[in-house]
Amino acid sequence: ITTVEGLASAEGELHPVQQAFVDHDAFQCGYCTPGQIMSAIGCINEGHAGSEDDIREYMSGNLCRCAAYPNIVAAIVQARDETRRA
Ligand code: FES
Repeated sequence: ITTVEGLASAEGELHPVQQAFVDHDAFQCGYCTPGQIMSAIGCINEGHAGSEDDIREYMSGNLCRCAAYPNIVAAIVQARDETRRA
């Protein structure tokens, strides 16, 4: 089982999805962020990040009281594109 605590490298380099969440300010209070990040990784790895609508549908079970949804989608798009290039 991988949790959000296990995503960064031993040297402290963030996972691409973690970095994308930072880059896009995809959180406010951070309460939902571990779940959002783990679901975002699943969204990308399982091929459900083809479009922003696909991302919103896949991520619809993750609620964010701070309503950071547009930034979360933007972060997933960035991470998806970086992952595809790698
Ligand atoms: S960042 Fe506060 S609940 Fe999502």
